Amino acid sequence: MDTARIEEVVGDFVHLKKRGTSLIGNCPFHGEKTPSFHVSVTKGIYKCFGCGKGGDSVRFIMDHEKYNYPEALKFLANKYNIEVEETELTPQDTEAQNAKESLYIVSQFAAAFFVKQLWETDEGRGIGLSYFKERGFREDILKKFEVGYSPDVWDAMTQNAINSGHKLEFLEQTGLSIKNDNGKIYDRFRGRVMFPIHNFTGRVIGFGGRTLKTDKNVPKYVNSPESEIYHKSNVLYGLFHAKKAIRDLDNCYLAEGYADVLSVHQAGIENVVASSGTSLTVEQIKLIGRFTQNVTILFDGDAAGIKASLRGLDMILEEGLNVKIVSFPDGHDPDSYMHHVGAGAFKTYLENNRKDFILYKANVLLKDAGDDPIKRAGIIRDIVESIAKIPDQIKASVFIRECSSLLEIEEKILLSELNKMRSAKSKKSFESNQRASTSNNNPYLSGSTDPLGPPDDLWDDNAGLAEQNAVNEDEPQEQEILRLMLAYGNIMVSWDQNENLYIGSFILQNLSDVVFKRSLHDKIIKHYWDKAEKGYLPTEKDFIQNPDREISELAITLSTSKYQLSENWLKKHLIYVKDETMDLKKTILGGIYHLKKNKIELIKKGILSELKSEKDPTAQEDLMVRYSNIKRVEKIIADFLGINILE
Ligand code: CTP
Ligand code: MN
Repeated sequence: MDTARIEEVVGDFVHLKKRGTSLIGNCPFHGEKTPSFHVSVTKGIYKCFGCGKGGDSVRFIMDHEKYNYPEALKFLANKYNIEVEETELTPQDTEAQNAKESLYIVSQFAAAFFVKQLWETDEGRGIGLSYFKERGFREDILKKFEVGYSPDVWDAMTQNAINSGHKLEFLEQTGLSIKNDNGKIYDRFRGRVMFPIHNFTGRVIGFGGRTLKTDKNVPKYVNSPESEIYHKSNVLYGLFHAKKAIRDLDNCYLAEGYADVLSVHQAGIENVVASSGTSLTVEQIKLIGRFTQNVTILFDGDAAGIKASLRGLDMILEEGLNVKIVSFPDGHDPDSYMHHVGAGAFKTYLENNRKDFILYKANVLLKDAGDDPIKRAGIIRDIVESIAKIPDQIKASVFIRECSSLLEIEEKILLSELNKMRSAKSKKSFESNQRASTSNNNPYLSGSTDPLGPPDDLWDDNAGLAEQNAVNEDEPQEQEILRLMLAYGNIMVSWDQNENLYIGSFILQNLSDVVFKRSLHDKIIKHYWDKAEKGYLPTEKDFIQNPDREISELAITLSTSKYQLSENWLKKHLIYVKDETMDLKKTILGGIYHLKKNKIELIKKGILSELKSEKDPTAQEDLMVRYSNIKRVEKIIADFLGINILE
């Protein structure tokens, strides 16, 4: 954490300028022209005052690169050449981890081997490279995607790997080497041009090898099998090279093959990936969804193929993504069309021929149905079924309107069809909700009429209401005390002549009778308790670096709230607010008393309502004593806060 300096980590992605004590730049998380993205070097955090995103170095990498927590830590460790020791692992885990790592290593080795073959051997240049050149691929694109060539020899790669010290075991597990029934070892890929497949952090996990023969009996592609590191359904070809552009442009082009990805890149369009052979999976869609909500499918030309794949695309709608389609003139796929018309025209074509998926589908099916009324009815159902998959109701209703004019059907009819499908779909969850709500039996809601009217203790309902309101009232006070705790907890203050206590401990002691209303606040306090009991008072930084996103986000908000005040407000109005650190004691007591004031209100209300129903005179007396005690406390607090306010 100390090494991964915020200005360096963020600086890799955002151009930062110095302004006062902090650095500012244009926020990478939302489009903006005037910078509101602040980096505080001393606090080790960033905060955008435009969109609200904030965090430390790890959070930045998580949000920017869409990594989970361990992935982000590893990314940073790698940037700073820090070895990550996975101490939590059992020996078996470690072995598995090492084995997995070994698979990555042999895959990377093989990729480098194939690249070397392509560029530095006669066979590779004469056959592999000249093939790519003939198809019009530029050298920089071939290098970027690390394409290679596997020599037409039984075991060239395997022998080379073993001679370099790699274990056959791992070569076999990646599928790069195969042992036949006679125990003979040979290469899976021979005499093919090689496309390495990277995971989205950039490591090689598998290969696709394309034959250069036109012989119909030779499969066009041979692919790596599934392995410990390669799960086809979770991988999108090209994502590693595309992810930055996908995020920047907020759109992902989805093609079918390796060649398509390379060609589209060559046209200067980098936000493109391919599903590569497998039909699109939910995991792949979710993967795209980590970077953008907009997918544009690049369809091959032939009509039968398009019709067949339309159904599969409903799955993308279901994930809540917006789907557009670009199709190409007959017989062309993105790759062939790019080389046919050239980069510039290709780019323009993509921009001008995007159609919305639902409307595109409606058009394709309509053309297919002609005037046949039965077929047309089928289409309507089909289209509405797609629309029903869209989770966003507003979006869905827009499509209903557009399809109503396209299909020449009244909107009303489409809507009722949509509702039918929706209710069928949600029937299950509806039923389970119903069960839940009837078990929570409330006589006033379930309609059982009570001839005597509401009972006396309706009061309690009001008390409940008051409590609910108190939740909202308490929120800023709770936050304020947490802020003070995080900011000053480690400062020692003398509270009485002879009592020196850390502010953190002092607050904890004084809050032992207070339950925080917001569970997140309570979580932070509990965390603080835990640490304090172990003899360590956590700092602001500890909370900012907490892996729990909610906690770290609140810690950032707390630590920047003062700062925001000084930046925007104080400067503008040239106001100098008395520094709260001048009299920390008073500040802290103020925070505690503010919080307690609200609790006292509640306690008073509680005692009063108890008094109302209490019939026993001695118990009544007890309650009255409690009430006057609480009034006294209230007075002390009010006096203190009053003094505070007057100053
Ligand atoms: N594919 C495969 N096995 C095949 C054919 C295709 O695994 N026998 C996969 C490959 O991932 C391929 C994708 O399906 O990239 C799309 O197929 P296709 O369009 O035929 O391949 P291209 O990559 O476009 O290759 P090329 O243009 O060189 O024919
Ligand atoms: Mn192709």
